[in-house]
Amino acid sequence: MDELKDPIRFKPLGPDVFGRTHPQELLAAIAEDGEPLLDLVNQHVVSIQAFRSKTLLQLFRLAAKYESNPDRYCRHNTPLTGKILINAFYEPSTRTRLSFDSAWHRLGGDSINITDRSTTGIAKGESLEDVAHMFNNYGDCVVLRDGNPHAVYAMSSTLRIPIINAGNGIDEHPTQAMADLYTIFKWRPSLAKPSVPASDRIRIGIIGLPSRMRTVRSLLRILAKFPEAVEEVVVIHAADLDSSTSVFDPDQLEELVTAGLNVRVSTDLHREIPELDVIYINAISWVGDTYEVHGKGFRLTRDMPYKPEAIVLHPLARGPELCTSLDDTAHNWYFSQARGAVFLRMALLTCMVNRAERVMDVV
Ligand code: CP
Repeated sequence: MDELKDPIRFKPLGPDVFGRTHPQELLAAIAEDGEPLLDLVNQHVVSIQAFRSKTLLQLFRLAAKYESNPDRYCRHNTPLTGKILINAFYEPSTRTRLSFDSAWHRLGGDSINITDRSTTGIAKGESLEDVAHMFNNYGDCVVLRDGNPHAVYAMSSTLRIPIINAGNGIDEHPTQAMADLYTIFKWRPSLAKPSVPASDRIRIGIIGLPSRMRTVRSLLRILAKFPEAVEEVVVIHAADLDSSTSVFDPDQLEELVTAGLNVRVSTDLHREIPELDVIYINAISWVGDTYEVHGKGFRLTRDMPYKPEAIVLHPLARGPELCTSLDDTAHNWYFSQARGAVFLRMALLTCMVNRAERVMDVV
């Protein structure tokens, strides 16, 4: 094999999206205020709805602080020493489970991972409420991914430790939305300022189905908390939806519009692309124990007429909708999005599991 003859070299880190410049600029754009982070102490994270915009901003600020100086904060800042994370994932996951685990370990903690519910008492008929009673004794925080949208609510009813919803069927994925908006704010820090110049406001195209995709549902909800940063959201979906599939759930669009978000629907990706600052694409939704693929006609490739500064985001896992030819272009912010999720989750876990006075120490 040729590669055995030649030394195999590490690929250098790619575009500057992996560097410290962007988090440093975001850090500078958000004035420090520790008080809103106290909202998070010992709280469950089930829906993005519960978060105040000022809490999210301070969370992004703390994540940017960690990302600006990972050597310092990932080796010498260990507030979770002696604490145990219970990572319960009953659906496949690369990013969410491993980034929560990585974040927890970087903060000095230990973790227990469950990747198959059939290895627990659930397989013998044990209720989720009773499993949660046991989790109270075994750990300090639970991260749960379960295709059953009600599971996180059932467990939270008997938990005395915080639980984080890491994706509950087609309902929500709140920490993914936080990572998404953190990425957008790093790309354009002026969006996080109290007054956003009109010229900096973004037009974001979301290729996906808000009624079926938890990432899209949570992303729209978090954008609705910052309507002043958004010129327009264009939801782009396939023209040939079957009669049983709607773009929005009842009341979903009204909730966004009432919050001040300017939302338009389109089926013409090629016509929209030249006008978009941020292009977010997702193709799958988890339903029960399997997944659906939507928008099979949509595919982003490098030769499309993007604005020069436009960025592409994808919650991943990648399917044919996101061509690898985009990977080495400046439009690729999806790898940065996945990387930033570690620092975002470090910030969240620090605030949720620490005592209030220690939260004030780390900001
Ligand atoms: N973004 C996301 O939820 O990815 P995983 O399914 O790999 O966790």
